[in-house]
Amino acid sequence: MRAVVFHGPGQKAWEEVPKPTLVDDTDAIVRVDAVTICGTDLHILKGDVPAVTDGRVLGHEAVGTVEEVGSAVKNVTVGDKVLVSCITACGACRFCREGSYGQCLGGGGWILGHLIDGTQAEYVRVPFADTSTYPAPGGVTDEQLLMLADILPTGYEVGVLNGAVGPGDVVAVVGAGPIGLSAIMGARLFSPAHVVAIDLVDSRLEAAKQFGADVTVNNGHEDPKAVVDGLTDGLGADVAMEAVGLPATFELAAQLIRPGGRVANIGVHGEPATLHLEDLWIRNVTITTGLVDTYSTPTLLTLAASHQVDAGRFVTHHFALDDFMEAYDVFARAGDTGALKVVLTRS
Ligand SMILES: NC(=O)c1ccc[n+]([C@@H]2O[C@H](COP(=O)([O-])OP(=O)(O)OC[C@H]3O[C@@H](n4cnc5c(N)ncnc54)[C@H](O)[C@@H]3O)[C@@H](O)[C@H]2O)c1
Ligand SMILES: [Zn+2]
Ligand SMILES: [Zn+2]
Repeated sequence: MRAVVFHGPGQKAWEEVPKPTLVDDTDAIVRVDAVTICGTDLHILKGDVPAVTDGRVLGHEAVGTVEEVGSAVKNVTVGDKVLVSCITACGACRFCREGSYGQCLGGGGWILGHLIDGTQAEYVRVPFADTSTYPAPGGVTDEQLLMLADILPTGYEVGVLNGAVGPGDVVAVVGAGPIGLSAIMGARLFSPAHVVAIDLVDSRLEAAKQFGADVTVNNGHEDPKAVVDGLTDGLGADVAMEAVGLPATFELAAQLIRPGGRVANIGVHGEPATLHLEDLWIRNVTITTGLVDTYSTPTLLTLAASHQVDAGRFVTHHFALDDFMEAYDVFARAGDTGALKVVLTRS
């Protein structure tokens, strides 16, 4: 079969590799029907994730059809259409028992396309298949479902739920990439008074309006604090989410909140950011961080099936699996191409 194989920083190829086989009796082999690329895959290709080694098949998001199951798999059967989640869950460890699947101690967590071969391939081996896949609900297309593998639960759990968005809140979202947009979409479910999107790229701010932001700020030439203060009688935002992963954007999110407000960091940070405790200590703030757990996937599946969430809106480009290298190029040049999520399907 063919797969996207990582060969060290800056090096990847769509090349022939052995088709995966069952290793543990809790595994399933899934034929990949639809797959996408994540910003994290671009981080890996830059060399930012050293745990990913030469020869690794990339990808941690897919929708597919079950081809084969191990003898201990009970709920997933051959022929089932499933969502393959970015987080694998053993289902039995202390953290899985709490729904903190991202922190799984039993061999799960973020492993696909990281510690084991991933989904950017014609077939993928999914460990702990019963607790790491979800049956496709009726009325949801493969590409809509695919958005629930990573970006929708990430924006919803690490942004909206950690930030405890509530009715009437003023919510500021720093960064309007796929993750920030999914946080904006999720925040809207809670009837906030205003959702302010902040980004340096106007095309991303245009997208933010489509996803539910009613105020947009290009912080390259506008002052987001002045805009947020103007909406809140100078108090600041109830919730500020960081969806970029840079020191400056974390510090901006912390500046935007009101006393008693909540900063929900979603971004993956590679460098230290400054926590201005000298300003924050007196303001009763809450700061949260997190890796997505995907405990909200069942809720999001219901919302997608009932069309309360329009998951397909993220998809800007379509490719065949054989065009993976072109899809990477379009996704990596999002500023020029307007790409949010690219979807590759079997032709
Ligand atoms: N916590 C988790 O579990 C988790 C899961 C997935 C992704 N992430 C992280 O979330 C972050 C966002 O992911 P994404 O896929 O949307 O990334 P992305 O690169 O597509 O989007 C980031 C956006 O931030 C904007 N931006 C960059 N610098 C800025 C600045 N100084 N001020 C304002 N905006 C700025 C960019 O223009 C872009 O629109 C990344 O750090 C990613 O690694 C976290
Ligand atoms: Zn991802
Ligand atoms: Zn576990």
